Amino acid sequence: MNKKYTVLDELSKKQLLLHDSLLNKGTAFSQKERDAFGLNGLLPPRILSIEDQKKRILMNFYSKPNDIEKYTYLMGLQDRNETLFYRTVIDEIETMMPIIYTPTVGEACQKFGYLFRRPRGLYISYEDRGNIISVLKNWRYETVDIIVVTDGERILGLGDQGANGMGIPIGKLSLYTACAGIDPAHALPIMLDVGTNNADLLHNPNYLGVKKNRIQYDEYTRFIDEFMDAVQSVFPKALIQFEDFANKNASRLLKKYQSNYRMMNDDVQGTASMCVAGILGSQRISGRTLKDETLLFFGAGAAGIGIGDLYALAANKTGISIEDARKQCWFIDSRGLVVEGRENISNDKEPFAHKMDQLSDLTDIIRAVKPTVLIGVSGQAQVFTKDVIHAMAELNETPVIFALSNPTSKSECSAEQAYKWTNGKGIFASGSPFDPVEIDGKTHVPGQGNNAYVFPGVGLGVIASKANRVTDDMFLVAAEIISSSLSQNDLNQGRVFPPLTQIRDLSLDIAFGISQLENSGLNKESIREMMYKAEYQDYV
Ligand code: NAI
Repeated sequence: MNKKYTVLDELSKKQLLLHDSLLNKGTAFSQKERDAFGLNGLLPPRILSIEDQKKRILMNFYSKPNDIEKYTYLMGLQDRNETLFYRTVIDEIETMMPIIYTPTVGEACQKFGYLFRRPRGLYISYEDRGNIISVLKNWRYETVDIIVVTDGERILGLGDQGANGMGIPIGKLSLYTACAGIDPAHALPIMLDVGTNNADLLHNPNYLGVKKNRIQYDEYTRFIDEFMDAVQSVFPKALIQFEDFANKNASRLLKKYQSNYRMMNDDVQGTASMCVAGILGSQRISGRTLKDETLLFFGAGAAGIGIGDLYALAANKTGISIEDARKQCWFIDSRGLVVEGRENISNDKEPFAHKMDQLSDLTDIIRAVKPTVLIGVSGQAQVFTKDVIHAMAELNETPVIFALSNPTSKSECSAEQAYKWTNGKGIFASGSPFDPVEIDGKTHVPGQGNNAYVFPGVGLGVIASKANRVTDDMFLVAAEIISSSLSQNDLNQGRVFPPLTQIRDLSLDIAFGISQLENSGLNKESIREMMYKAEYQDYV
């Protein structure tokens, strides 16, 4: 046998304990463990608690000069010692979330070719077509509870990042574990490398993906079909979350697969749930009910229409017909107000096209439609001008203004503008975080419409209750639970989303709500027991 394989044969428990990220405890191995597995001498002698280790991690973390260095440092920790990584992320979630996910993860994807150190997850390229089952079988574990998959075509607001988009499924699954206790051993990030149309990447010698243009049309759909069937066959229990697919594929693939597979799309369904949660939360301040609301969406894409659809379902639950609920929702796209009889109205916008003059100026539209809630999902920065917000404030005692476009530079208005221009009457939430604003001595805390309030709890609920399908009702239940979790103190500050520090309890509540929807007979404690806690196990 050649020498290489002799070394492989000698790989022992000792090596695994020290070098497998899910098992490694670093300086926290106890003396008993060091004796039992022959680790003496292989580690510095002082034995540290996880709390001591975390202090060292935070010291290093804060010493990094910028966010991408912090990201790289945390990814290194995740590759070495996942328990410590999750302990740190869970305990410091407000600091860590913007580093392991948006906005820093976007920059990390752009630099993926340079930052790549150790592989994580599975890369399935178009060259693997016909053979996807065998690639999936290469995964190290037989149990997979959840897969987050992307094809890298619309990474955040950064467009086509090809195989570099792998940072997204990795980051999203870290949030599943940190926010809802999904076992990291049962979470699988997948990159479907179907090529890229990003010319910079195709010419970049450091690009690690397939250097070809994207496959399209039937070829693309056949490949995704094969992937879905292969997952069903190799990991029949897995929930598949689609993430950052191009808009032309996101809603289409969701409609195609949602009734036959255990799958969801966070960009469409998670966003809708988050926004409906924000509206329900705002009603706890404004005192309005769903029948009192009129929603005006600036932007009628995947996010906007998804919100409109879920809103109609929410209103329907309170006794309003779906048709009437849709009449409460008005949409503006790049051609102006979506009205009955207008040309160029796609099928998904059609139910929201109502009788009205074909207006295009936003302030004129507000005066005509009289919205109580204005939602920006267009990617157009600063379109909620002073006039626009004044018009909202003239019409409403408590105008609700959600500027959801990401990143911060694309926000339709800032928190300060929304509060100032409504004289502090307005309720504001945004896609990217804004600092609190003080007006006349009162502090207003803007909500961040972060989908992380929704998807981890929904995922935990689906996994715990062994639900076969992910339904719209689950996202509605999540929205209701998020809004009812707001404390009086939150409401006094104008918050429509709770502090992120409560996210694990919130995810548990959502999971329990979903398990009740599924009549699974689980109680809350038994779901809590299933949650991964980022604590070291004793090996002896
Ligand atoms: P999309 O591309 O599907 O839709 C954009 C819509 O905006 C289209 O209907 C388009 O016609 C409209 N639009 C573009 N320019 C316009 C203009 N000048 N005037 C009027 N309408 C215009 O995009 P998608 O996925 O719906 O996302 C939209 C925005 O929402 C993005 O900026 C994204 O970052 C944000 N978003 C935020 C989320 C969050 O906060 N959690 C989640 C999902 C999306």
